[in-house]
Amino acid sequence: MSRGVQMVFAVAVSVAGLAFAAGGGCDTGMNGVPMVPAPEPGDSVSFANHVQPILTAKCASCHRTGAFANSAGIAMLLSAGDAYGSLVNRPSSQNAALTLVVPGDSANSLLFLKVSQASPPVGSRMPLLAAPLSDAEQALIRDWIDDGALNN
Ligand code: HEC
Repeated sequence: MSRGVQMVFAVAVSVAGLAFAAGGGCDTGMNGVPMVPAPEPGDSVSFANHVQPILTAKCASCHRTGAFANSAGIAMLLSAGDAYGSLVNRPSSQNAALTLVVPGDSANSLLFLKVSQASPPVGSRMPLLAAPLSDAEQALIRDWIDDGALNN
């Protein structure tokens, strides 16, 4: 790389860094919860970009190693890095006949039933002790499962 090209590259990187620091990077909604960008119509839902942010903001405080639900015997972890492997084709800790996420079948996925039904097959509606997920949040989880529950 010539000196001139290196210089232009360095300036471009620092301008991009400033734009990020100036607020491009972290949108928050009215209640301070990170806003999840809605997928464009026809796009499949992304686990990393659409589902994990909901789990991190609203579920992982209880569903991570050593936290309330985990200490109470729920093996499922919803923290980033642990959630996907904890959910897909995994049995419920409370009733091994139930599966947390059945790819392509939200109606038989306990994860979706627990956030969408007032009286799910086991235990209480989730998130426990908090307002139900919005219709849009529930739809993201449902569509991610029905699209095949990919690690995308
Ligand atoms: C305040 C703590 C708390 C929060 C927050 C919470 N949970 Fe739970 N969760 C629990 C407890 C305790 C249980 C076990 C009792 C029950 O199922 O009602 C549980 C059970 C579950 C189960 C069943 C797991 C199994 O193996 O049977 C699922 C699925 C679940 N939660 C999903 C969620 C999701 C999704 C969220 C976020 C939208 C969430 N939870 C938020 C405490 C919590």
